[in-house]
Amino acid sequence: MTRDKCWLKKKIANPAFTGYFIEKTDVISEVIVQEMDNLFLDCPLVEKGKAYLTFELVNHLVLGEEGFVLEKNSSTLTLSSNTTKGLLYGLFQLYMAEITGKNLGEKFTSVPDQAIRMINHWDNFDDSNFHGTIERGYAGDSVFYLPEGEFRRDEQLLLEYARLLSSIGINAISINNVNVHKKEAFFITDKHLKDVKQINDIFAKYGIKTFLSINFASPKIVGGLETADPLDNEVIAFWEGIVQNIYQQIPDFGGFLIKADAEGEPGPFAYGRNHDDGANMLARTLKKFEGILIWRCFVYNHLQDWRDRTTDRAKAQYDNFAKLDGKFDDNVILQIKNGPIDFNVREPISPLFGALRATNQMLELQITQEYTGQQKHICYLVPSWRRILDFDTKYEVEQSQIKDIFKNQSPNKRYSGIAAIGNVGMDSNWTGHKLAQANFYGYGRLIWNNYLSKEEVTEDWLRLSFDLSNEALEQLAEILLTSWETYEDYTAPLGLAPALVKPNHHYGPDIDGYEYSPWGCYHYADREGLGQFRTVAEGTGYTQQYSPALADYYENPATCPDETILFFRRMNYTDKLKSGKTVIQHIYDTHFRGYERVLEYQKTWLSLENEIDEKSFQNVATRLEEQVRCARDWRDEINTYFYRKSGIPDEQGRVIYA
Ligand code: GCU
Repeated sequence: MTRDKCWLKKKIANPAFTGYFIEKTDVISEVIVQEMDNLFLDCPLVEKGKAYLTFELVNHLVLGEEGFVLEKNSSTLTLSSNTTKGLLYGLFQLYMAEITGKNLGEKFTSVPDQAIRMINHWDNFDDSNFHGTIERGYAGDSVFYLPEGEFRRDEQLLLEYARLLSSIGINAISINNVNVHKKEAFFITDKHLKDVKQINDIFAKYGIKTFLSINFASPKIVGGLETADPLDNEVIAFWEGIVQNIYQQIPDFGGFLIKADAEGEPGPFAYGRNHDDGANMLARTLKKFEGILIWRCFVYNHLQDWRDRTTDRAKAQYDNFAKLDGKFDDNVILQIKNGPIDFNVREPISPLFGALRATNQMLELQITQEYTGQQKHICYLVPSWRRILDFDTKYEVEQSQIKDIFKNQSPNKRYSGIAAIGNVGMDSNWTGHKLAQANFYGYGRLIWNNYLSKEEVTEDWLRLSFDLSNEALEQLAEILLTSWETYEDYTAPLGLAPALVKPNHHYGPDIDGYEYSPWGCYHYADREGLGQFRTVAEGTGYTQQYSPALADYYENPATCPDETILFFRRMNYTDKLKSGKTVIQHIYDTHFRGYERVLEYQKTWLSLENEIDEKSFQNVATRLEEQVRCARDWRDEINTYFYRKSGIPDEQGRVIYA
């Protein structure tokens, strides 16, 4: 299949680029030579002194392993880095600056703000029914596995994907779903290591480390043992053997990612052990190979009784892991979801951030739009990630914003960073919805440079992807930058997500779908009001998990912000929000407004037919039809539901289907 090449599709045709020179040739330099051909027109390899662009390996402490400098002097440009990997990043940066017309000045230095910048694939090799599919994937089948339950082994495709990842600074990838099914459990064995190695070696050329998701019960499933108890000697020996064999075949292998004791996945709890027992045992087997063990904190009781009002799913990450701070080995990283419940359109930040002071940690985001329109709706997530990175945990430490927490509070700073669930698949534009590419691109840019503005990232992607007039660029930027809040408007009011979405597949409204389910997300609406008390005074005490300053802020109705008020408090329909509106009027207004905005997006997009290539134009136009249909359903089902519960009409007398 021919693939759209995304943001790397154009070639630079700058007459100044008369030639380039590379000091030393090794594997990555070969990639650089290749990339020069891919990205630049007519730019031959020539001698130093005669070349416009020179690559230099240097030894500058401040650049670390991945940073680079682009320096201009009279007629030449020097790209320097301590490593060939850094040179590659610099080359991609130079390319992007050329295409977007950005002036990098006389000297441009760039060092990534996060050490590990990762994509987690939730790709299934074998889910008995779903070979080659992607859990929460909305862009076709897996790029790694075939529907027949085989590795795809498409080197060209993997190379193209590696290029994309590297061009936005991604340096780690896990290639199989964290829900590890039976056949995937065998990825760690000789049966599949050759295929894993092929993937590993392709990504390694682009400076990307490959990780596998593992099944905690592998000693039983793979090893035929009676137990997977992390303190059992046979279990330890099993893992040692497995790891030894992997590194023998793939010496630069990254390590393991694991979901344990969550949503039915096995874990140490079954043996009366805790997460530190499980994680440390695995980490010790990886240690001598410099392998890393990434342990997810998404652990909660998914079999809750809805009648029980004391259990609170939102408290689980903190309850399970805060008490284990300092107990993990130095090659263990805890991976913490940004929200305390899941990846909803808006949730407060997990209170675990800032609470861990002696544990390596990573943030986990979701690029794939599970709860945000499934790549059928435009929902550009960079603004929401920007807010997350800037969120102040208000702990009394020097830098208390989320973006500083991981590196500052991880004892081993090299083992900290950000991961996100990817959104690519076999669709020819990689992401299904053309505009969802902007999420993939924006994620990489933002986690490399945590200070980039959302406007800059957006403009860059638009310029790299289309040839737009300034006016069209502004219009599209406006759509992208408002789309997350628009999605929130017509779906989840005041922090009530995910209670209102259709269970299981999470697309479209089903207001009582989760209400009597075991999944722990409820809206509790009755004729008076809705929402859940998570305060100490009236509810589950969740607010107490934050720093003292934030605990007060969320506990106090006078300061608790509107945007997540129903996450923290139950309110009556007639209660006033800080905006001055009543709760019910806010619900009506946002749902009418959200739908109207989607209609405007559609109108704008259709007016840009001459500015956009045919394929992308049709791709988004078709999806906008579905977005309009679905947003209308959301608007009417939510408005009608709450009108029927409350009996309160819309102040503006708009149509609500009583
Ligand atoms: C969500 C999502 C699941 C996923 C899980 C996880 O619950 O719906 O598909 O497995 O998160 O993060 O592990």
